[in-house]
Amino acid sequence: MTIPRMTVLVVGATGSIGRLVVEEAVRQRHAVRALVRNPGKAGQLPREAQVVLGDVTRPDTLSGAVDGVDAIVFTLGSDGAGKVGAASVDYGGVRNVLGALGSRKARIALMTSIGVTNRTGAYNRTTEAHDCKRRSEKVVRASGLPHTIVRPGWFDYNGPDEHRLVLLQGDRRQAGDPSDGAVARRQIAEVLVRSLVSDQALRKTFELIATAGPAPKDLDALFAPLDPDPLGALDGVRDMANMPLGDEPQRVRDDLEAMLADRPTNG
Ligand SMILES: NC(=O)c1ccc[n+]([C@@H]2O[C@H](COP(=O)([O-])OP(=O)(O)OC[C@H]3O[C@@H](n4cnc5c(N)ncnc54)[C@H](OP(=O)(O)O)[C@@H]3O)[C@@H](O)[C@H]2O)c1
Repeated sequence: MTIPRMTVLVVGATGSIGRLVVEEAVRQRHAVRALVRNPGKAGQLPREAQVVLGDVTRPDTLSGAVDGVDAIVFTLGSDGAGKVGAASVDYGGVRNVLGALGSRKARIALMTSIGVTNRTGAYNRTTEAHDCKRRSEKVVRASGLPHTIVRPGWFDYNGPDEHRLVLLQGDRRQAGDPSDGAVARRQIAEVLVRSLVSDQALRKTFELIATAGPAPKDLDALFAPLDPDPLGALDGVRDMANMPLGDEPQRVRDDLEAMLADRPTNG
């Protein structure tokens, strides 16, 4: 199969997953643009990647990054920055990049986390990181853009023989430790990049883990049986309805309502 060549923006490009996404997208012969907030980290990226400077918390820095892109992969993380970081980066960063894109169309791959719908665990109560990542999912769905949302298990906690990918829906694994499932960073990057060109991955939200066995050769065969997110819905298909829009902070309701009002009719 010939993979179409796209211009792919990676948001979170200097992170532990984003760096691998850049490498994988270069390997799949896409033109890769890496959003970098710290110029000192640009040298870590493959020379084929075009580096654009920008900070997702500053919308005025983002217009050059989104100009002319066909696809955007989000692997942002605000780990260690508490509730303020979660709100401004994990959620606000995605909202701001989509805002900079405006009415232009792009394929989206968003990475969040297994257990993202768990609101009552200690991690979310301390950081609100799950809630903010889930809001980033909602803003992507509300945009009407063609999307895939990947919720990986624990990074690199898989055993050396565990590369058989398993895609789950409904987010029912919520122990908050590696017993929820694990997956190699490199396989997460591969799934994110491959989803951009897959009709079978369109409008699908899934948890991604690995079990004993070899890596799959055909990712489309794994995407195909999954249920798509219902058109116009803010939650992933089969997610718990434990985050009603009416209970959301006013600023989030305003963002989502503005996105829904502006969504393309052909999304
Ligand atoms: N560890 C796990 O097992 C696991 C499992 C599932 C999900 N997750 C989640 O996955 C996320 C990403 O993981 P990771 O390991 O790739 O994170 P990471 O290494 O911390 O990378 C985060 C990326 O976001 C960028 N970033 C942060 N704030 C930014 C801003 N204001 N403007 C532009 N870029 C910004 C960082 O840039 P800099 O390099 O400049 O800081 C970096 O490129 C985390 O939030 C984590 O919670 C983790």
